[in-house]
Amino acid sequence: MTGVGRHTTTPAGGDEFDAFAALTAELGLLYGGDYNPEQWDEATWVEDVALMRAAGVTLVTVGVFSWARYEPEPGARDMAWMDRVLDLLHEGGIAVDLATPTASPPPWLGHRHPETLPQTADGTRLLYGSRNQFSPSSAAYRSAALAITKDVVARYAPHPAVRMWHVGNELGQVSYDDESAAAFRTWLRSRYGDLATLNEAWGTWVWSQRYASWDEVAPPRVAPYHRNPSLELDFRRFTSDALREVYREQAAVIRATDTRRRPVTTNYMGFFPLVDYASWRDDVDVVADDSYPDAADPRRASTTALTQDLMRSLGGGRPWMLMEQATSAVTFRAHNLTKTPARSRLESLQAVARGSDGICFFQWRAARTGPERFHSAMLPHAGPDTDVHRGVRRLGADLAALAGVAGTRLRTDVAVLFDWQSWWATGQDGLPTNRMDALATLRDYYEPLWRAGIAVDVVEPGADLTPYRLVLAPSLYVLEPEPAAALAAWVADGGHLLLGPLTAVADAQAHVRPGRFPVLLADVVGVSGEEWVPLPEDGVGVAWDGQTFVARTFAEHLRLDGAQAVATFTDGALAGAPAVTRNEHGAGRAWYVGAVLPPDRLAALVERVLREAGVHGLVPDLPRDVEVTRRGDVLFVLNHSGEARQLPVGNLLDALAPPRSAGPPGSAAPPVQAAIDLLTGALLTRTGAADALHLPPDDVVVLTERHP
Ligand code: GAL
Repeated sequence: MTGVGRHTTTPAGGDEFDAFAALTAELGLLYGGDYNPEQWDEATWVEDVALMRAAGVTLVTVGVFSWARYEPEPGARDMAWMDRVLDLLHEGGIAVDLATPTASPPPWLGHRHPETLPQTADGTRLLYGSRNQFSPSSAAYRSAALAITKDVVARYAPHPAVRMWHVGNELGQVSYDDESAAAFRTWLRSRYGDLATLNEAWGTWVWSQRYASWDEVAPPRVAPYHRNPSLELDFRRFTSDALREVYREQAAVIRATDTRRRPVTTNYMGFFPLVDYASWRDDVDVVADDSYPDAADPRRASTTALTQDLMRSLGGGRPWMLMEQATSAVTFRAHNLTKTPARSRLESLQAVARGSDGICFFQWRAARTGPERFHSAMLPHAGPDTDVHRGVRRLGADLAALAGVAGTRLRTDVAVLFDWQSWWATGQDGLPTNRMDALATLRDYYEPLWRAGIAVDVVEPGADLTPYRLVLAPSLYVLEPEPAAALAAWVADGGHLLLGPLTAVADAQAHVRPGRFPVLLADVVGVSGEEWVPLPEDGVGVAWDGQTFVARTFAEHLRLDGAQAVATFTDGALAGAPAVTRNEHGAGRAWYVGAVLPPDRLAALVERVLREAGVHGLVPDLPRDVEVTRRGDVLFVLNHSGEARQLPVGNLLDALAPPRSAGPPGSAAPPVQAAIDLLTGALLTRTGAADALHLPPDDVVVLTERHP
């Protein structure tokens, strides 16, 4: 994948040096996990290093929750223990991703400075005795966090074990306290300049909300009834920016101190609602993500794939890393299902298949104490003589066998448009229905692409779309004129566009755009709407290709303005109105979906759109729940189905052919004759092309061409 518009920025730091690529060029795929040595004695550290080596661990994240150990009382320093930990790890050949210990302030901070403690929207202060108890806008928190960060970084930047930096942990706090309110007002002043503009932007004539003075402006705290949607949207943006400031301050200390320019990152949380990660893209040297799919979720493989595609896209297509996951059970759900080692391996290799160059877990050694004492680990309570730990060693060997994959990229012809503000806005009160959400809709549209073996770039409106043949915008509720015009021009130039319901409804203030919708794109889709129609429980009939089905939840009252109806409502007030449309626009084509479609109809639609756009999956007729991706010239085949699957060898070899654009014009590469599975050494040959590859449940093959 190349050129994703604003996503093709150089890594943070502003020049072409890619600190993460430099690390993986040396170490291959990184493997390890969080290590919390403050919970253990020195004899255990020694044992841990030996066991890590035996498991093929190459990188551990250390010091995430060490603040109270480093600074047992305000201003004190106790760091000799960490010197020893880093020395031991270094002697054992294990690289360290050293954290700034700022995620969990010691109790003394909140006790002395209650203003550092976050406040919920109803005014409740969240206390210490847990973790994450800080308000991102608290000056006292930020200065204490910076002070300990400076000392940790100054002391350990020269240490040879340290190869990467990890700022805080899962930055995701929100606070509605008075200091946050003041910071919010400062943020609003720089966005709007004056109060009149703010009043306009927030539509405050409604319900007599007009502000007469800046002092009256407050976060969206608990109120008698629905809160102003524009205020809510801005508070989301402000919170995301405040967290970014916390990250940036600590990253700046690292960058000013570490002359060796090791990569700086923090761990994301997938599609996390409080942080617009797309706005952080210039701040991290590598995108790192924590992933805890629910083992009880039958759609976890495709939802995880979508998140992984997002992570890759946030880094402009560069490799990202899986910073945390569980070997088996977690402890934050009400009922925590375990995973088999085979499933854990499958999920790890899925991340590699979708562009990750690091596979790490939370955590190395299971904690005996604290709330996470039943959380699985690479080294369980029962010790190394366990299936989980044998699985960990096997995975270490697998990743070593795949070292050559590090640095390679996926490429795709398909993008989906997603942005946080549309997600935020579709979750607000007062919409036609609260049964639709931009992320849920995105997952629905993504699943058929995943099933077809098509990787997707997840990009924001306004991104350069020239690398793509097909763009899907399943739920682009907020759309501004400039990206809308770019989208229209891209279609006119030959792009294929599929828009879902509730597209381009609102502007960036969450104000509804007047006119027949999708207001800014009605010309492109050749159809326009006048009313949003939440449906009664029994839904509405739709006729499509001589068949009928029922659409539920939501529909739109549309009129054809030049487009062709692909599907039509059959009953009720919408009878005869188009439900799904297709329109030629310039050299391109635009589809509009004015209803929530059942999954099989949505899949059929996406398949048709793919066909007409000339986009094909890597392997035809993929068996259900088999995932395929291609990184560089390596093909990953992953069986998520829970049952054995068969794939024709010929199809797999064909998928290894160089991309058509790779050779000189007119040259067709000769068919690939043989491939080797990098994980097992097994050979697949063209002479056995009619044979089937037998893929046991949860198994993976990683194929590359074997030259005679
Ligand atoms: C993550 C967190 C870790 C650990 C893990 C447990 O959210 O960063 O510290 O709590 O979850 O699943």
